[in-house]
Amino acid sequence: MLMNKIESALIDSPPRRLLQHYEANLLIKLGGCTPGARVAELGCGPGYGTRLILDTFGAVSVDAVDLDPTMLVKARRRLEHHGERVYLARGSAADLAAAFSPVGGGKDASYDAVFDFAIIHHIPNWRDALAEVARVLKPGGRFFFDEVTATALARPTYKALFDHPTADRFSAGEFLAELPRHGLHIGENWRTRVGADYLLGVATRTQDSR
Ligand SMILES: C[S@@+](CC[C@H](N)C(=O)[O-])C[C@H]1O[C@@H](n2cnc3c(N)ncnc32)[C@H](O)[C@@H]1O
Repeated sequence: MLMNKIESALIDSPPRRLLQHYEANLLIKLGGCTPGARVAELGCGPGYGTRLILDTFGAVSVDAVDLDPTMLVKARRRLEHHGERVYLARGSAADLAAAFSPVGGGKDASYDAVFDFAIIHHIPNWRDALAEVARVLKPGGRFFFDEVTATALARPTYKALFDHPTADRFSAGEFLAELPRHGLHIGENWRTRVGADYLLGVATRTQDSR
């Protein structure tokens, strides 16, 4: 689901970039960096997270997808100097094969890591998006996520300012419980922030359940 005008403006702003640094540092504490990794990123928005994945996490390449062509224009501009290390596709995080097929990406077990910086709560069929994450991860590959839960989305500020899917929203517990159903092991590698409004964690693709 596309962001409304207010969220689109906020997502490409200095406060969001500051917050994303904080999120990246917490994710590194939970799951480490990704030196030399081939990465897929869901919902890259204006591409600041993509830059962090390359420059801070140390990935060698990122295939990133977003539904919104306006965001992709911003991302393309921001990531220009990374050249062929970045592939930006318009498409859905729930179908990475379609999005990344022009560069041979999105295949089963083809990425060392998948990043979700605050996008899965925008997807009505969020369980399918988790299945897609698990499908493209190599066994032992890591899923880094930073999510906004139903608790946050029900707050008056969120309701007044932003548009999100209204049905089947997930709590932190529901998101965590869904991961092992797709062969994603989370263990203790997660934290909530601001009560249970935000959920960050790093899950690992298990070897045996594909
Ligand atoms: C809250 S923004 C986060 C952007 C960026 N990851 C960040 O953290 O700044 C959510 C992004 O997900 C994109 N999006 C929403 N639903 C999507 C879907 N099904 N597939 C791909 N991108 C999607 C939106 O267009 C938007 O750019």
